[in-house]
Amino acid sequence: MTSVKTLLGLESSCDDTAAAVVRGVPGDMKVLSSVVFGQSDLHADFGGVVPEIAARAHAERLDVSVAAALEQAGVTLSDMDAIAVTCGPGLIGGVVSGVMMAKGLSAATGLPMYGVNHLAGHALTPRLSDGVTFPYLMLLVSGGHCQFLIAHSADRFERLGGTIDDAPGEAFDKVARLLALGQPGGPAIEAAAKNGDPRRFAFPRPLSNKPGCDLSFSGLKTAVLRVRDDLVATHGGLLTQDQMDLAASFQAAVSDSLSGKAARALDIYLALSPAVPSFCVAGGVAANMTIRSGLETVSTQAGTQFLAPPLALCTDNAAMIAAAGIEQMALRAPDGMDLSARPRMPLDTNSAAMLGSGKKGAKA
Ligand code: KG4
Ligand code: ZN
Repeated sequence: MTSVKTLLGLESSCDDTAAAVVRGVPGDMKVLSSVVFGQSDLHADFGGVVPEIAARAHAERLDVSVAAALEQAGVTLSDMDAIAVTCGPGLIGGVVSGVMMAKGLSAATGLPMYGVNHLAGHALTPRLSDGVTFPYLMLLVSGGHCQFLIAHSADRFERLGGTIDDAPGEAFDKVARLLALGQPGGPAIEAAAKNGDPRRFAFPRPLSNKPGCDLSFSGLKTAVLRVRDDLVATHGGLLTQDQMDLAASFQAAVSDSLSGKAARALDIYLALSPAVPSFCVAGGVAANMTIRSGLETVSTQAGTQFLAPPLALCTDNAAMIAAAGIEQMALRAPDGMDLSARPRMPLDTNSAAMLGSGKKGAKA
């Protein structure tokens, strides 16, 4: 019987400095507090996350985040059973800041420390939000991630495929810039697309004829750029209706691509005959209603329950890191002071690491 544990989690791999306290046993956990200090204001002028600025901001805010998380949970460090920290993948300066903080706390308190793969944190979120049982199928779709995974256990993930270039959120952000819509691009495109015609422009569904679950979004972005330039040349500017039709047609292409590959991933997953078939989606892009309902439709057609954790747990946060720590504590010994911070850290070491670096840092 695994006993109830209370963990402090730290996350600093990209542009959110976060700390959280989570209590429970694997598959049955409760978030006692979750503090996230975003940095978007610091990076707004640069069109992406600036690693050096991010690292400094993390170093400045980690201790404040920890104090706030403990206070909000009504606990102190002496109530903790362990500390969990993101040790990769991510922007290395930020990851190092978090790992150093965890080592300092561990050395000062004697608490065991667990290094957690940031992607495992995302992939295990449905265990925290819904107590979903293994194995389940997972799609991570955000500004920095895009991959289909089968979570066999808290320490075994099978990567079925993912983007070979941009992450979908990154494509939304870039296309929003092309269409003179605001940032972040996802919500801006979704709003514009509401009044647009998704069939007006036949944008490509990249890699749809290739077997497997890999995706590509950079060609789609170029296709939008070409049509926009033609329209601007014709009208001397972009008409509002053109802008809305471009947004809707682009969104439809992303949604179709994700749903098409989700159907294939579901086939592979269902061949395992899981007792309770579950398809979970996480990441900022999962907030998009067109994409979400497309994924839900293929999931329902495959006879699989569809789960989307609340957005606050889907975007970068430390509760998912603490929860992954609780899961891993039941499976392995803690890490030592030689725990290293890693810029790249694939979840599935049998699958080739993906190249490319999104606006949100290195993809694993
Ligand atoms: O998970 P997230 O908050 O951060 C990381 O990337 O780690 O995801 C942010 C991304 C942004 O690229 C944003 O444009 C996209 O998610 N996004 C959306 C929507 N809301 C946020 N994309 C499409 N539709 C949305 N409604
Ligand atoms: Zn993330």
